[in-house]
Amino acid sequence: MKIDSNSLIGIVGAGIMGRGIAQVIARSGQKVILYDNFDGAIQNAMNSNEEDLNTLVSKGKISKEQKDTTLLNIIPSINIKDLSSCDLIIEAIIENKDIKQKIFKELEEICEDVIIASNTSSISISALANGLKKPQNIIGIHFFNPAPIMKLVEVISGLQSDKNIIKNIYDLVSLWGKKPVYVKSSPGFIVNRIARPFYAEALRVYEEGLASFATIDESIRSSGAFKMGPFELMDLIGNDTNYAVTLSTFNSYYQDPRFKPSLIQEEFVQAGLLGKKTNKGFYTYLNNKQIGRNDITKVEASKQNISEIYVYGSLGLANCLIPLFKQAGIKVHEKKANAYNYTYIEFNKIKLFLANGKMASQISKELKEKNIAQFDINIDYTSSNTITIATSLLAQKHIASHIAQLFLQINKQTIIIKDSPALIMLRTICMLVNEASCAVTNNVCDEISVDIAMQNAVNYPIGPFKWANKLGLDFILQTLNNLEDFYKDGRYRIDRGIIEKSMTQGLYYE
Ligand SMILES: NC(=O)c1ccc[n+]([C@@H]2O[C@H](COP(=O)([O-])OP(=O)(O)OC[C@H]3O[C@@H](n4cnc5c(N)ncnc54)[C@H](O)[C@@H]3O)[C@@H](O)[C@H]2O)c1
Repeated sequence: MKIDSNSLIGIVGAGIMGRGIAQVIARSGQKVILYDNFDGAIQNAMNSNEEDLNTLVSKGKISKEQKDTTLLNIIPSINIKDLSSCDLIIEAIIENKDIKQKIFKELEEICEDVIIASNTSSISISALANGLKKPQNIIGIHFFNPAPIMKLVEVISGLQSDKNIIKNIYDLVSLWGKKPVYVKSSPGFIVNRIARPFYAEALRVYEEGLASFATIDESIRSSGAFKMGPFELMDLIGNDTNYAVTLSTFNSYYQDPRFKPSLIQEEFVQAGLLGKKTNKGFYTYLNNKQIGRNDITKVEASKQNISEIYVYGSLGLANCLIPLFKQAGIKVHEKKANAYNYTYIEFNKIKLFLANGKMASQISKELKEKNIAQFDINIDYTSSNTITIATSLLAQKHIASHIAQLFLQINKQTIIIKDSPALIMLRTICMLVNEASCAVTNNVCDEISVDIAMQNAVNYPIGPFKWANKLGLDFILQTLNNLEDFYKDGRYRIDRGIIEKSMTQGLYYE
């Protein structure tokens, strides 16, 4: 049986996800039966879809006719037997394995031959198929919230899912205007797994007292072009939900330290500081304003013009700063890396290194020099207007203002955090790459699916593997090695995929 745009689709559960998925399918021109057996649930869903569509009409995004046809394509139902002639049924009820399986068994009785796709966020598809008459017909189809807006859909195969069905549903999801990716059933699938370090590293930087929430968020937004920083995103998702997903991922991976939840986040959850929905989380929300957002540790520039600098060796990703310095009238003396193969910018007796997973203080100790600082990676040094730095614990106080002056001369503000290995962006990106690589090594998905998934489900400006290509695998290896050496924590152990890739073609999928 082939499912196409003429097939009849059913949805069980008309909550936030079920109603959104119904809207997606109906807008593509396909008929869908939306079933829910709770009092008033169906009416609520139909009203909410109508409101959504009215908004789209008022914004000129769809015509009134498109709205009317979309609504006519959604057939409401409070009787499960109405689903008997469906070819594909998408389940979007409560996140509970036993309750989902009970419905699956009922559907197997009612329908002659049906494909059942669960929208579960965390339950194994292989487990859901266990004990059913046709386990080969059970798959996962994971939409993101809000379903009408978020492009990504993870098409998930369990151990017994039929490969042809998976391919068929992948094609169907594309017809609905979504971006599908193939995923093997595994905890967190792609997005909820790979996104963990985005929150975890930020929480760790905060827990270690290295920077404020607002500083971390601003650094991530401005250096990484992420739409939202990790703390404001956790506030938006809800600390309770975000913490629960991390805890469930941690336990599913047998307490692997890569997924270790944060005590500070647990404390926020226990205090009821859940984020936007309680008006208080990491930030306070008052009349739709985020209070605390500007609590950023910026450095005031020294106002003593810097006319020349020395650059030793290649600064890698940060080499593009050199033309900016030159354009700003700064004389740049480009030199070979020194005898120890250190690469850095030198001026006013300050040595400024690109972060590499060591503390500036460690480099101070190695070089027996006080005035050492480091700066963070940046997705695009030319367009970004801030650079994050840290100075050695031994450095003289004034060096930060000289560094801020240097960056101000190329129109960039300087954010400072306490000395730490891999600052903020570098540790976050390296850990995202590490987790992405691990998912590929575990055969959960391929490289390109990772980048498509992270860009389309959580709006990352570029995917982890694109970042890896930018940074270079040797640099990532060096940074992760340094982090592991520093923390002596298995959380930073390098995935074998990165090592293999660095020994072979060195680039991901390009
Ligand atoms: N909310 C999200 O952000 C999100 C994102 C992706 C996936 N999911 C997953 O989607 C599923 C649904 O989540 P949601 O947020 O839409 O939940 P929800 O609570 O908003 O909706 C669930 C709906 O299912 C109905 N329902 C419950 N048991 C039923 C049954 N036995 N028969 C018929 N209807 C039943 C309820 O009446 C309710 O309307 C869950 O598996 C969840 O993990 C949620």
